[in-house]
Amino acid sequence: MNNMNQLQLQMNATLDRRRDIAKLRRLVVNPVDNIDFSSNDFLGLSYSKTMRQEYLNELQSMPFILGSTGSRLLDGNSQYAHDLEERIAKFHGAESALIFNSGFDANAGLFSTVPQKGDIILYDALVHASVHEGMRISRAAQLIPFAHSDVGDLTMKLEGIKDTKQNIFVAVETVYSMDGDIAPLNEIVQVLRSYWPNGENGFLIVDEAHATGVYGDHGRGIVSQFGLEKMVFARLHTFSKALASNGAVILGSETLRQYLINYARPLIYSTFMSFSSLALIQTAYNQLESDETKKIQDHLHNLTRRFRNTICLPTGNLLPSNSPIQGVVLNGNAPVRALASYLNQLGFIVKPICSPTVPKGQERVRICLHGHNTVSQVDDLVQSIHTFFNVNNSLESKL
Ligand SMILES: Cc1ncc(COP(=O)(O)O)c(C=O)c1O
Repeated sequence: MNNMNQLQLQMNATLDRRRDIAKLRRLVVNPVDNIDFSSNDFLGLSYSKTMRQEYLNELQSMPFILGSTGSRLLDGNSQYAHDLEERIAKFHGAESALIFNSGFDANAGLFSTVPQKGDIILYDALVHASVHEGMRISRAAQLIPFAHSDVGDLTMKLEGIKDTKQNIFVAVETVYSMDGDIAPLNEIVQVLRSYWPNGENGFLIVDEAHATGVYGDHGRGIVSQFGLEKMVFARLHTFSKALASNGAVILGSETLRQYLINYARPLIYSTFMSFSSLALIQTAYNQLESDETKKIQDHLHNLTRRFRNTICLPTGNLLPSNSPIQGVVLNGNAPVRALASYLNQLGFIVKPICSPTVPKGQERVRICLHGHNTVSQVDDLVQSIHTFFNVNNSLESKL
């Protein structure tokens, strides 16, 4: 047997073990025409004919080739990219912006390079895998988790390290991707300010992936909604969710931008995104600024309220979230798969989120509401979940 065959056997055996414990990941193609309660396309811009036409117009008007042709540091840079970054920085009220090929690259680049030797990172227990990827190879001396959105626990952990001369980074998301709850950002800022009134060596890093386009005036995000722009060291906005595009931007000081250009390996050693991707991001920001999108945002928040006000599940089965990300929790991968497949058969696209993506016992069906969903689709979904749970109460009585 040659080495290649042995490797195939080893990989197959590992996959079989995953299959046996119902943890095998698979690529699935969503059935066409089913109702989307799953994607991160919160504003429905992926379906928008207006955005599509504006994108095609933008492409037509660009005097550029299609591919960027290289890393940003070699041939991949352009005035178009610089102008887009300036526009994005201004829109979100930041000093500067730096585009990355993905949110994953941006977080990995930020967390792997910015903490200096011996620094400390405190991170919310539920931060995204991309933050872990960056922390894993960072030079930070300590990586300390704090209980999810628990300001008391954060304070206790800060208390233990407050006298250090090292930099301390606190990493949070604004809308948590799997739970949908919103971070107590004001309180977190206050705690940091109570230790470092002038931001001496306590730095807040905020991932706005799921808030982008959804919260804040015209979708500027939650940092902007709370007026905390000056209190945050770095912000991540992804274009890959509500903005129907790809890529992400890190907002922060010009020094941070220059530092990342010099040290962030995902930016330095990867071909920069194509002009067609930049044009799509440009078009998405045009959409965000439009009044039409504001109406879609209002509709989305109305649908979220309707879902919350009408659904009635036993305690513990519905996650406490007021955002468009909702979670129906069941204990174990098999029950969660059963609910998802029941809803799929009725024509709803929803996905089971199993352990290890979420903690054991916290498996859930993740439901995302969208600007392109209708009130009656939401009502049908709620009724169907009730039927699965055998909850016998009419929707009308809750409205
Ligand atoms: C909170 C959070 N941060 C970062 C990312 C990565 O973004 P992207 O999909 O653009 O790589 C995601 C996407 O799943 C996310 O949910």
